[in-house]
Amino acid sequence: MNENHQWVDSNVRKDKLSIGNGNPQNRYKLTTQGLDPGNTSLQPPTDISEIKSRIGAIDQSPLVDNENNFKDRTEAIDFIECQVLDPIELILQKTNQPEQLTLLKHSAEKVKSRLEKINLTLFESLRENIRNKKYTENDFKNLIREYVGSDYNSGRQQEVIAYDNHDIFLDGLSSFLVMPEATKDLEPEMVYYQKTPARIILELVEKSQITKGDVFFDLGSGLGQVAILVNLLSGIPTRGVEFEPAFCHYASACATQLNLPNVTFINKDARETDYSEGTVFFMYTPFEGKMLQTVLEILRNESRTRKIRIFTYGPCTTQVATQDWLNFSGADINNIYALGVFCSCLR
Ligand SMILES: C[S@@+](CC[C@H](N)C(=O)[O-])C[C@H]1O[C@@H](n2cnc3c(N)ncnc32)[C@H](O)[C@@H]1O
Repeated sequence: MNENHQWVDSNVRKDKLSIGNGNPQNRYKLTTQGLDPGNTSLQPPTDISEIKSRIGAIDQSPLVDNENNFKDRTEAIDFIECQVLDPIELILQKTNQPEQLTLLKHSAEKVKSRLEKINLTLFESLRENIRNKKYTENDFKNLIREYVGSDYNSGRQQEVIAYDNHDIFLDGLSSFLVMPEATKDLEPEMVYYQKTPARIILELVEKSQITKGDVFFDLGSGLGQVAILVNLLSGIPTRGVEFEPAFCHYASACATQLNLPNVTFINKDARETDYSEGTVFFMYTPFEGKMLQTVLEILRNESRTRKIRIFTYGPCTTQVATQDWLNFSGADINNIYALGVFCSCLR
């Protein structure tokens, strides 16, 4: 990890994103009927009967087994992690009679793994539909609404990097292979991989007023999720430019498996890439300082022949905002974790 780049929020529980989500907004309230998905701050259980009743409430909840109930199931998985397994671990450290707790831990893990399997089956069938071109762009947007809900915080600004159920759902659909290790050291000013929150990608597509002639570039495309999702949500050709060959290879494999020939990944340094077909560009702070300025100069030259739009996320927004050939039309230029929206004004 590049020590120069401390801006990444260390609280992001990346490990949880692929399975549960550790999302502090997801809190279940136990009621006599079982679970009520209210945002209640439930106290950690202090005794065995309370833990048992929590596991039973999830296990017997009619909601979570229905394949279509992704949101409830995800919140139930989160509940098992945060409100059952984490507290069991804490109590286990203090007790000298661990037998019953260990049994409860195993039964909680069993319920969790049953729910995760339902998600895996769901994702496999949705991916199959994507492969077979069953969804138009609008269908895909509706699919996200149906499974995760319509509120992805458009307009509501976050002050930190925050992930939510959209990330778990879209990870399941678009980043389903085993994550590769990086093979190359990053150069100074390059920023290591971290994914853009899915709600930012949804907001980007909503705000970019993409038309059929547009071509989208994600500069520093990591594992490729941004380019894949923008294509699924808009139908335009998308490109990812990534310095790390293993990430680029992974992203290409995901796009191929989803049968998305209009999504391509270029294993190059963003300073040496041909952007002549690009009209919409996105940067989740892939690099900083002089390297960022060099790439911005390349984009500035591109903007002499056509209007381009640049979307930013993270600290690079501050530097992009100083470019006199770009107009800002985002919500808040001082909030680096709001989507930065820029349009070229040289033509
Ligand atoms: C913060 S991550 C963003 C990943 C991706 N855009 C996403 O949101 O999922 C930055 C990425 O930029 C890549 N990167 C850094 N410098 C680069 C350069 N000069 N050219 C191409 N990619 C670069 C890194 O390897 C890393 O994967």
